[in-house]
Amino acid sequence: MIKKEMVPFRFSDKEVQCWFGVSFDDIREQLSDKRVIWVTDEHVYQKYPEEFPAGECIILPAGEAGKNQDTVNTAIEELLNMEADRDVFLVGVGGGVVTDMAGYIASIYLRGVKFSFAPTSVLGMVDAAVGGKNGVNVGLYKNQVGVIRQPEHLFYNFSFLNTLPELEWISGFAEIIKHACIRDAEMFQFLLNNSLEDFRQDLNVTGDLIRRNAELKYKVAAGDERESGQRRLLNFGHTLGHAIENITTMPHGFAISIGMVFACRLSEKLIGFDPEKTEALKYLLKKYHLPTETDFDKEKAWDILVHDKKKSGDTIHFILLKGIGEGVVHPLSLSELKTLFFEM
Ligand code: GLY
Repeated sequence: MIKKEMVPFRFSDKEVQCWFGVSFDDIREQLSDKRVIWVTDEHVYQKYPEEFPAGECIILPAGEAGKNQDTVNTAIEELLNMEADRDVFLVGVGGGVVTDMAGYIASIYLRGVKFSFAPTSVLGMVDAAVGGKNGVNVGLYKNQVGVIRQPEHLFYNFSFLNTLPELEWISGFAEIIKHACIRDAEMFQFLLNNSLEDFRQDLNVTGDLIRRNAELKYKVAAGDERESGQRRLLNFGHTLGHAIENITTMPHGFAISIGMVFACRLSEKLIGFDPEKTEALKYLLKKYHLPTETDFDKEKAWDILVHDKKKSGDTIHFILLKGIGEGVVHPLSLSELKTLFFEM
């Protein structure tokens, strides 16, 4: 049984109450003095219909394809039909797509109402729900529109993981491995000593691992909320990863996994990263059932890559590794990257 505990996550304008080890009842009790409107998606709703009160719930389409302004506009119309005023409190219950959209909807509805998140996936718990970036995709380009605004609470109900499909476990572990690569060599070793099957069987150990990752993400993000420095490290594997995700049907974590291997190879060429460490990462990714390479259209990937938000002018802030647990931000001109990208 995971201990219920509140850990404050302090951002510049807000202390987010991060509750680990809570149940749905705990969440309801915590918010009992508010008019709560729940925001979830079709998949989560189908699994837990009894938890969402009829008439006080917005059900978004499941998946990345619906993460756009049209879905947000529909949700806002629903809020208006529910006569939700400025005191309404939105709670996003779902994976990263749901929490990113719920936070964005709450941030723009009536110029901003309060909100909290209850992430339901590994990826949501260790990454998407933490950090305050909320928004939607525009066409093929990910998260191009949005806000940085923190929730009031993060509610970690680890029992959601009992119904999480295997593919989503695997995808979420890509972000955990990313955290280990950029900041936590000890966790890299811990992951090597365990397996996905071990974590799936023991939610207590998984809960501890998720908490360690949520805290790592919080510390990196809180030190650089607007992403002009160390927060960029969290993009390790994401520059190529996002492009692959957009041009294939691959889940996020799978694409990031391939992006991390590419970033390691680039690290070997540019800053002398030990090739044996690239092999160690590949071994770890495979151990967690993640891909390390795929066939993809390089021209198409490049077109998407150059629209990356991490680009300023002709420079892209690529995240490389000096060692395991030692991510670094490496400014690279687009022309230099292009040459390397097409010869690798
Ligand atoms: N929503 C994820 C982040 O702020 O990084």
